[in-house]
Amino acid sequence: MRVLGIESSCDDTAAAVYDSAGGLLSNVVASQVAVHEAYGGVVPELASREHIRSIVPVVEQALARAKTDRDDVDGVAVTAGPGLIGSLLVGLCFAKSLAFARGRPIAGVDHLEAHLFAILLERCVEFPYVALLVSGGHTSLFRVEGFDAVRLLGGTRDDAAGEAFDKAAKRLGLGYPGGVAIDNLARQGDPSRFAFPRAWLSKDSPDFSFSGLKTSLRTFLSSAEGRAFRVEDVAASFQEAVVEVLVGKTLSAAAREGIPRIVLAGGVAANSRLRDRMEAEGSRAGVEVFLPSRALCTDNAAMVAFLGERRLSAGRSDGLDLNAYAASRFSR
Ligand code: KG4
Ligand code: ZN
Repeated sequence: MRVLGIESSCDDTAAAVYDSAGGLLSNVVASQVAVHEAYGGVVPELASREHIRSIVPVVEQALARAKTDRDDVDGVAVTAGPGLIGSLLVGLCFAKSLAFARGRPIAGVDHLEAHLFAILLERCVEFPYVALLVSGGHTSLFRVEGFDAVRLLGGTRDDAAGEAFDKAAKRLGLGYPGGVAIDNLARQGDPSRFAFPRAWLSKDSPDFSFSGLKTSLRTFLSSAEGRAFRVEDVAASFQEAVVEVLVGKTLSAAAREGIPRIVLAGGVAANSRLRDRMEAEGSRAGVEVFLPSRALCTDNAAMVAFLGERRLSAGRSDGLDLNAYAASRFSR
């Protein structure tokens, strides 16, 4: 079965083709960074308009790269939520129209689930595993028992880790989105030069909090005014505070759950320091760590097509009343 996947939950318009026999045939992402850069964050209304502009060319490119005609698409998978409603609706309406016009089945895919299983496009990972989903909108720990058995263990009480990176980068004048900029700059910095706070919360808590760290950077920068410091050292020290907590809490969750397998997912999982520390500390703790390639960490439609193909091959499709939802469906 050949499935066209569509993703438009935030600020990336993406399409991909996944085939039951041939695997991933194409994976196209159109970024809107240039549109939102001037505002230092995603402007929802502009994002929706940009999706409308990009959806047709992106889908056509994905089909062309997969050497697939529209008639050869056996089913359509689309992100239904969570995300920005206006953005989601563009992908959803397009997918529903295509499915209806061609008489093909449609599957609505949860964006968070898509991230959690993206690793399976590249690696075989035995269930269960503990997954850390870290992106611009989410920072959560999950116990993944199987495709339809995902349990939320904990999550952020305020900012997501990616949000913390983006806001810190803005304060440091590094542009938007800031995660990659901090990652790159931090390579030339000393991570122990400045002691930014680590919010461990209560002992063994699977929850996160990054708002205190954000405030502490603001206080640091206003009190440092006029004094010389290397921005590389600030970037490295800030990044270290985020990474240390992410790694520590993920390893604790794996130990508590008695699961020796950890999967990283989401845009922040592309962070080089997080990847290095997770692998090194995981190996010391006897835990196998699985890292998706960077293109499968950030938003993409390959993960949507992959989950959709599984569902549609099993005969589980949605009706055309499929609707978008803004908030996460996972709760403890
Ligand atoms: O998963 P994603 O593409 O979109 C959401 O669903 O949010 O994640 C985007 C987030 C942004 O906050 C971005 O700054 C962050 O991932 N990010 C990074 C890196 N690459 C992307 N953060 C730290 N280091 C990176 N290398
Ligand atoms: Zn995402």
